[in-house]
Amino acid sequence: MTYTTLPMIDETGYVVLDRYDQAQDPREWEDLIYVDWKSSGDTRFAPLASAYGDIECDGFWNHNPPKTDKDGVWVKENVAIAPRLIARAQEPGVNIGRCRVIELQPNTYGEALYNLHRDDNNRLNPEGTGWIVRAFFNLTDNPDSLMILRSDKEDPSTEIRLPLPAGQQLVLDTQRFYHAVWHPGNEPRYCLITSYESGPGLQSWMDGYHSVNRVANHPIDPQVQAEGEALAQAKRDARAAALAAQGKDPRFGDGSMQVAEKGSGGMEVLSEA
Ligand SMILES: [Fe+2]
Repeated sequence: MTYTTLPMIDETGYVVLDRYDQAQDPREWEDLIYVDWKSSGDTRFAPLASAYGDIECDGFWNHNPPKTDKDGVWVKENVAIAPRLIARAQEPGVNIGRCRVIELQPNTYGEALYNLHRDDNNRLNPEGTGWIVRAFFNLTDNPDSLMILRSDKEDPSTEIRLPLPAGQQLVLDTQRFYHAVWHPGNEPRYCLITSYESGPGLQSWMDGYHSVNRVANHPIDPQVQAEGEALAQAKRDARAAALAAQGKDPRFGDGSMQVAEKGSGGMEVLSEA
């Protein structure tokens, strides 16, 4: 397929930008209207832009008429509450699809591994236009929490771990990487997630934050890693057994994540939506 992509994201699948001074902004995310939407753990979402401006989080392709993850419609109820978050989402000045704040309750490394999934960002996206990537602006200060990326879901050697202090700004090809957040701690983590169309405008905005596409991998305790792998595998096995008992194909979802059709090239794509 031919889409406009950004070479520096093509190379590694992720970029890290200069950190934003989050302390200068009000904590607007505390006042937003959230909806229950389970994705990659115990989560809720506050939609800022949705398919047609309603307070809901479904993938744009699941609406009538369906649309690709572009041309999001601002959700007026939340826009009124969070002008600063909207301004930040609009900063790149490029086409925006889904835009929402995620609330993630604390979890373990093994649970995060079990939650690894790829997004379905480019369903219905016309060839010849920009590939959809997603920006993650961490709002709460979670320096011990990690964005986990893997090119092979069950191969720890492919793992990239990016810490999530307040103001961390990442742009990720979440359709390429399996991803999930490991969030230890006692309080929920909040992050602004926005779908952007790749193109010169996005690169220019990234340049302004001195984006880099390689950083040192955050260390992890080998024992924690081994225990996490074991827990994730146990959960996968239990899920497969439960689905098999129901006569269902264990490759497909259990309701916590939606499962898309097989993408082109036979790639199975899980949708966070
Ligand atoms: Fe995702």
